[in-house]
Amino acid sequence: MTKTIIRFAHATFGFPGVIALQDISLDIAEGEFVGVIGPNGSGKTTLCRAVLGLMEPMGGSLQIFDCACQELRCHHRARIGYLPQKGTLDRNFPITVLEAVMMGRYGALGLFRRPTGRDREIALDALNNVGMQDHRDSALGGLSGGQQQRVFIARALAQQPEVLLLDEPTTGIDITTQHSVVDLIRRLHQDLKLTILLITHDINMIRPHVDRLVLLKTRLYAAGPPDEVLRPDLLRQVYGKDLVITEKDLVIVEDYHHHR
Ligand SMILES: Nc1ncnc2c1ncn2[C@@H]1O[C@H](COP(=O)(O)OP(=O)(O)OP(=O)(O)O)[C@@H](O)[C@H]1O
Ligand SMILES: [Mg+2]
Repeated sequence: MTKTIIRFAHATFGFPGVIALQDISLDIAEGEFVGVIGPNGSGKTTLCRAVLGLMEPMGGSLQIFDCACQELRCHHRARIGYLPQKGTLDRNFPITVLEAVMMGRYGALGLFRRPTGRDREIALDALNNVGMQDHRDSALGGLSGGQQQRVFIARALAQQPEVLLLDEPTTGIDITTQHSVVDLIRRLHQDLKLTILLITHDINMIRPHVDRLVLLKTRLYAAGPPDEVLRPDLLRQVYGKDLVITEKDLVIVEDYHHHR
């Protein structure tokens, strides 16, 4: 039997005057690969922040590793790797690829331990995993968007997490690179047996790879195998007139990608 690692039970999260997620009930099993979809403002990033223990539920509960989310400690958080939604990276930010990945070790290091050769080995291993080992001494700001995404994934991996949260990892990169990043994530899921929550607007791209899709718009509209969730009637409720479904079953929604 598989173990539940994340459990939302009628959980509600929000900000002053805004309910971002309402009455969410959802169990995620250890080792599952879950895609999270929904329009802009549907609560996807909030879901990530809740799992990281950064938000207090306004109602219901969220358990992560058998711990209430609002009680997560640093050692719990160190078990969750996080790739935040893309911000703009200053091209002149003076840091090398390896230094950026080493940052992933700080959670595991704690406050007083200095990085050792072993931490460096783990960081290099993470770079290997994403195919960026040859760039370890390059300036992070000089890399392409897709290469930077790989480095950020490596930084999350250097934490040696059990759970990986990826918030729109393919946004803002070209289509070929998007496919290679999705392939990479799928391989990490298989090889490292990680539990993965992948937030994306690229429904067709992740459809063949995920175990389940979660469809959000403040409320949870559906959670299940992709073919069950990607039903026109259900999608229409969430995306409204922005939705187009082609004869080949491709789901196309208005362009929801944007940079913050
Ligand atoms: N820091 C905040 N303060 C106040 N309201 C917020 C904050 N962050 C998000 N919200 C609101 O919560 C709701 C959900 O936002 P969230 O960022 O989770 O959406 P999202 O699904 O990630 O959207 P996108 O696809 O644009 O990234 C929105 O109404 C948003 O305006
Ligand atoms: Mg978001």
